Amino acid sequence: MLIRNAPDIKSSEITDKSLYLSRRKFLLAGSASLASLAAGAAPAWLSGVDEAYAGTKLPGVQKSRLSTGEPLNSFKDITTYNNFYEFGTDKDDPAQYAKTLVTRPWTVAVEGEVKRPKIYGIDELMKLSPLEERIYRLRCVEAWSMVIPWVGFPLSALIKRVEPTSKAKYVEFLTLHDPKQMPGQRRGVLEWPYVEGLRMDEAAHPLAILAVGLYGEVLPNQNGAPLRLVVPWKYGFKSIKSIVKIRFVENQPATSWMKANPSEYGFYSNVNPDVDHPRWSQARERRIPEFTKRKTLMFNGYGDQVAQLYSGMDLRKYI
Ligand code: MTE
Repeated sequence: MLIRNAPDIKSSEITDKSLYLSRRKFLLAGSASLASLAAGAAPAWLSGVDEAYAGTKLPGVQKSRLSTGEPLNSFKDITTYNNFYEFGTDKDDPAQYAKTLVTRPWTVAVEGEVKRPKIYGIDELMKLSPLEERIYRLRCVEAWSMVIPWVGFPLSALIKRVEPTSKAKYVEFLTLHDPKQMPGQRRGVLEWPYVEGLRMDEAAHPLAILAVGLYGEVLPNQNGAPLRLVVPWKYGFKSIKSIVKIRFVENQPATSWMKANPSEYGFYSNVNPDVDHPRWSQARERRIPEFTKRKTLMFNGYGDQVAQLYSGMDLRKYI
């Protein structure tokens, strides 16, 4: 993966925030649903966000006590320095090219070893559980990190709703596969669609969330609109974007990065300063946009909450 420092990005490459908003968002700006929201007419929490696009304010978002108190990265950092290979492999590609992704209507099929499989519309899914703002660190395997005010809901709320059977041992997540909307999928950099997975107990952990927004607004496309996973104690590549399918399965899923390079990427991918990536150290990280590196913390600093998930496992072996 090519690492490019944020200060290397020319200011001319940094697109004005308004340009991120999809064309349809502008068309919808005067629509009834948004107008009623502005007038405060929305009856139940979150009604009115139907057909909401990047930049739409998400109402009724509660603060989470699980947030870190560290200073936040700017909206600009978070939305212009991205990994989203479906839109190119450079950090500034997603901000430029992800506009072609149409995020509404959008469905997420929840299937496999569950008693209540269902194809959810994105707006229905967003109403499953109250939305919270959770300020989490995102630590990329390339040894940089950011602090991001995600808006989302616990993945456990969805798990409870669909009632996994006793055979469900893992959860597999799939990104949309549509090379027309995601031109990076015309290139074989990864096997498409992007696939990620979690063990059932990891997925049910309260820190694992499905994010639908950041900075109080609907997710910009480059950050994985309309629905992405955030697993703060794991390397960023586990946090799969633009999810269309969630499958409950018996066997450990084959993830995109494991298929691409099994000697470099394991299934667990827990942030671990003691286990180097074969091509670079994981002991330190660069908090964007700083230059001096800081020490990386085990489990990205979430050890008190998650270490017990891995008790008895050799984390040098299960990378
Ligand atoms: N999801 C998909 N579908 N495709 C990707 O290329 N990149 C991953 C992850 N999710 C990726 C993805 C990587 S490597 C990281 S570090 C995070 O998204 C980056 O999330 P961000 O761009 O919102 O900071």
